[in-house]
Amino acid sequence: MNQKQENLITVLDAGSAKSVVLVAEVQDGVLRYRGHGVERSRGMRKGLIAELGPAAEAINRAALTAERVAKAGIETCVVGIGGTHVRGINSRGGISMGSRMREITREEVKAAVDRARSVALPPDREVLHLLPQEFILDDQAGIHDPVGMVGTRLEVNLHLSTCSGGVAQSVITCANRAGLEVLDTVYEGIAAAEAVLSSDERELGVCLVDIGASTTELAVFFEGSIAHTAVLPIGGDHFTNDLAVGLHVTVEEAEQLKKLYGNCVVTAVPQMNEIEVGGNLAISGGQPARMVRQRFLAEILEPRARELFTMLRDNLRSGGVLEALGAGCVLTGGGANMLGLLDNAESLLRVPARVGFPVPLSRMPQELVMPEFSAAIGMLLYTHRTQVRRASEEQGLRAKLKAIFAGSF
Ligand SMILES: Nc1ncnc2c1ncn2[C@@H]1O[C@H](COP(=O)(O)OP(=O)(O)OP(=O)(O)O)[C@@H](O)[C@H]1O
Ligand SMILES: [Mg+2]
Repeated sequence: MNQKQENLITVLDAGSAKSVVLVAEVQDGVLRYRGHGVERSRGMRKGLIAELGPAAEAINRAALTAERVAKAGIETCVVGIGGTHVRGINSRGGISMGSRMREITREEVKAAVDRARSVALPPDREVLHLLPQEFILDDQAGIHDPVGMVGTRLEVNLHLSTCSGGVAQSVITCANRAGLEVLDTVYEGIAAAEAVLSSDERELGVCLVDIGASTTELAVFFEGSIAHTAVLPIGGDHFTNDLAVGLHVTVEEAEQLKKLYGNCVVTAVPQMNEIEVGGNLAISGGQPARMVRQRFLAEILEPRARELFTMLRDNLRSGGVLEALGAGCVLTGGGANMLGLLDNAESLLRVPARVGFPVPLSRMPQELVMPEFSAAIGMLLYTHRTQVRRASEEQGLRAKLKAIFAGSF
């Protein structure tokens, strides 16, 4: 079956912990869930692909499952890009249209954006997204779409989301090896935002925090536009590793203990509670069982949570957006399931915080309405929105050409 004929959109989130392939169809302009496959990721280190073969194999298995559930062949996909190599840059540039007032055309808007993007990018940097924040026409700022307005000088404030060309290419190569042609790339922070933020939050100012296994992707919105993007080098696995070291248990057991008994607020855990550690021979590495105060886990986890949100606060401050979070921050990604994180976020950032669950697509199974699937679901929404926008732009262009030809005969 041909993917194009069926109006399918497929996305791939090759995360450090899991690889997800998610398929949806567009029917009467609405996205409908068709299928998905999730596999534990392989060959990844610190959010980067360290071994192509095992990483591609995991993606391939996820794609095969998604194909089976969707009852359709998958040939192409849109892939998410995350990791500390992703960086955001703000830039400003514009064009003059001569001394006489003129109506702004779409081509002039494109020319102004091109001028603003021609900032010197360091070598091996690729532009993932060109996101206009506002246009400034002569002295009037805050314009979202200047086409049809009249003026003499058009400027634009632009946010550029950039990534390492080499790293992006290895993700694409990996998808190719898994049998998927890559049509487009999306920054995972922007994708997750698409799935969990409301338009009111984007207007008031909000920071989306996607806490994955090895990194945390950020996307800050203010007055409806993207204001800042960054990636922090801490994720949920750092909490697990701290527990493994502190409790002298295997990483596998630490992961289980974190999920069952972990809390990032020491005082939220009753002082007398005790838990058994090392009892499960399959994952304890042969250690004998012993009792540990449950608070001891929180005493290990809380400093890591404080480190994460202190780093976040410093990053937002240096990006000039710390005071712009009228709607606070929204935590998503698997790491956002960690108990007590919201309290740490609120006390360190001094803004309200909530956990972001992705909006469910029509017919989507309930098990996907979890923070760890925000980026994948957001990629679908983002790709669909881009397709709709492109189609309407093409339609506009076609109507314009038709009018020109109609006038010339
Ligand atoms: N219930 C839970 N409590 C605490 N942590 C959890 C829970 N569930 C998942 N996590 C953590 O979430 C992390 C995985 O999140 P996610 O699936 O979003 O990562 P990923 O997208 O594969 O990774 P990345 O985005 O860094 O590439 C792991 O560190 C895991 O321990
Ligand atoms: Mg992720």
